[in-house]
Amino acid sequence: MYQTKIAAVGRYLPERNVTNKELSALIDTSHDWIVERTGIHQRRWFKPGVDTTSNMGAKAAQQAIDRAGISRNEVDFIVFATLSPDYVFPGSGVLVQKHLELDTIGALDIRNQCSGFIYGLSVADQYIKTGKYKNVLLICSEIQSNIFDLSDKGRSMAVIFGDGAAAFLLQRSDNTAKILTTHMHSEGRFAEELFLKEPSGLEEKRIMPDLLERDGIYPYMNGRHVFKHAVTRMTESVSAALEECNKAPEDIDIMIPHQANLRIAEAVRSKLNVEARHVFNNIQDYGNTTAASIPIAFFEALEQEKVKRGDLICFTAFGSGFTWGTALLEY
Ligand code: UT7
Repeated sequence: MYQTKIAAVGRYLPERNVTNKELSALIDTSHDWIVERTGIHQRRWFKPGVDTTSNMGAKAAQQAIDRAGISRNEVDFIVFATLSPDYVFPGSGVLVQKHLELDTIGALDIRNQCSGFIYGLSVADQYIKTGKYKNVLLICSEIQSNIFDLSDKGRSMAVIFGDGAAAFLLQRSDNTAKILTTHMHSEGRFAEELFLKEPSGLEEKRIMPDLLERDGIYPYMNGRHVFKHAVTRMTESVSAALEECNKAPEDIDIMIPHQANLRIAEAVRSKLNVEARHVFNNIQDYGNTTAASIPIAFFEALEQEKVKRGDLICFTAFGSGFTWGTALLEY
């Protein structure tokens, strides 16, 4: 059995920075409300006609390839996680393959929303562990600023979400670095507590004449319900992952929870009894970038030298589905 290491990380953020003040001019909200309820100060929004989910992912992937010091043709497989693909089909993995002119390697798309990164990491890990692949690109990219409802009904979501991309080059390990475990869960009975319904496959035609008048064309979230489950489930799955690896919360060098809401991250940290200096958050600057949030934060933690080789890292996520999971690794 082989082991998987993070060889390198890349990131791409759209240039446009949208502050809470700017958002308050578009939506009935305020800087104070957003900061108090979410911790967010600003987020990035994509530039239409320039940024796409797939080309942002490709830019992050190219940076990860460069930093890993390998050539494009050494990439064996692509895993792409997003809830905001360029097209309904095909998936975004093949579009990255096109942008980067990669060989005819396989490309797999993951549809697990905020948990997409953990699910993708687990998939890549299995391929590397079994010896099937040596270099797997895990790409997470989201453009969410174009699906908001800017009316009062949608404002709690519009203020939270942002756009961005990051990529991991995962590689067969040649040293002690390794993914120790990944835990994944889902609870489909809550699928409709956080979802985008329309255009739906439940109708005779996907595009019905009254589509634009339907509430379901905007994402729906039962915020408080999601909040409570996010805290409970992330805490539970981190505890289970630690137990499996005979580790304790105080062994964690850096924990990066999905950047959904600073209050959620803080509640998970406090329930687990992890000291604040061992948790990295950057939702303040980017909002909730769904599948991309953990890898963007990890990229930044590396840039700020908050992570060093040999550290015990904990990633945990929760989102639509509901889906959730945790990954523990020795970096
Ligand atoms: O990515 C993974 C999935 N997502 C999450 O994990 C997010 C989980 N949920 C949350 O983070 C929080 O529920 C929100 C930040 C979305 C909302 O915060 P909340 O503290 O749960 O607020 P609420 O929805 O219960 O609304 C409280 C009040 C309401 O007014 P009334 O009824 O008390 O008069 C809302 O109308 O705040 C009002 N409100 C706003 N006010 C100003 C809701 N959104 C806004 C807004 N600006 N953007």
